[in-house]
Amino acid sequence: MDICPKCNKVVLSDYKFCPKCGYSLTGQPAPVQEPGKDESSIGSISFFNVAQELSSSSNLDELLSKISHSVEDILNADRSSVMLLDGSGKNLYFKSASGEDILKKLKVPLGKGIAGWIAQNRKSEIVNDPYNDERFCPDTDKKTGYRTNSIIGVPMIANNNLIGVVEAINKKSGDFTKQDLDTLTGFAGLAAVIINSTLAQTDQKNTFSNMMDFMVMGIEALGTPEPTPKGHSWNMARHISQIGEKLGLPNKTIQKIHRAALLHDIGFLGAENPKLVGLNIDIDLTPENRYRLHPLIGGEMVKGIKMLKELKPIIAAHHRYRDGTGFPENIPTDTITPEIEIISILEYYYMAGSKEKVDPAKFSPQVYKAFSETIT
Ligand SMILES: [Fe+2]
Ligand SMILES: [Fe+2]
Repeated sequence: MDICPKCNKVVLSDYKFCPKCGYSLTGQPAPVQEPGKDESSIGSISFFNVAQELSSSSNLDELLSKISHSVEDILNADRSSVMLLDGSGKNLYFKSASGEDILKKLKVPLGKGIAGWIAQNRKSEIVNDPYNDERFCPDTDKKTGYRTNSIIGVPMIANNNLIGVVEAINKKSGDFTKQDLDTLTGFAGLAAVIINSTLAQTDQKNTFSNMMDFMVMGIEALGTPEPTPKGHSWNMARHISQIGEKLGLPNKTIQKIHRAALLHDIGFLGAENPKLVGLNIDIDLTPENRYRLHPLIGGEMVKGIKMLKELKPIIAAHHRYRDGTGFPENIPTDTITPEIEIISILEYYYMAGSKEKVDPAKFSPQVYKAFSETIT
């Protein structure tokens, strides 16, 4: 736990900067990723740790097993399982399950039991008293001798196709909650992308771009406190090439900024459910705090993913301007590059609602000119 010596307000476990006033809690300047430096912040594997592994592993069983363990850990559940739809499309089978090995030999017909109901209806469900729920089928408990007291399950869907069901069983204390369901939905989406890509034998690059889509969909679905129209991340990404070309940036740099545009507000996803992305944040995440923190949280989220960590300085500074305004305040204005400015000027434009409201004094003349010629 850290308390900001400047404003005494902020208490963070992992951050090096005060999210309220931007003061450096370590005496160091703004965060810049150093190559090869291990900055993982949490011991247990999280949503983004899985994403990180995805870029270096193609072992589906191992990844699903890690997802299962993460689900148990984060939801405080005794057991979990990942069930897939078989070739006939009529049964689920256990692809990964903690507990009894016998489970891996069982098939669950669609429509039977809670998992079968979730698959058939493509709906998430929480059942905190299964023996009093007529959909529950006690056959599995009879075969394993294990008593099911609570179930939470989410369908895995990719490209509108049902892939299977992720379930967690027996909350160790209390009942499963709506927040647990949101968390499990995040993991189910990630698992669906991984499984779908592996089954389709797409290459790593496609898998990664599917994941990017999934993350952007997550940001869009969540909505943000920013007064920006729907589809804001995709809209922003559309302008990147034109502005980048006007500035004479190399293709590789334009591709990097394009990815940064898609993910620039990913911090809102992390602020919504910090545990899901492996962050410990001890302050009350009010809408105002979520807004002020989202660049820093976004930077923290991408830094752990090999293929995204170069985006950290851009995402962390996408509300900071060269005239010293914006936030986080402790990012030095002389570290604000044209790469960052392309994102920040578009963000400013979408938030202001019109080109005329964009203040040229906040941006370097060449970036403002390229922006101004692109947005007509
Ligand atoms: Fe933003
Ligand atoms: Fe934004």
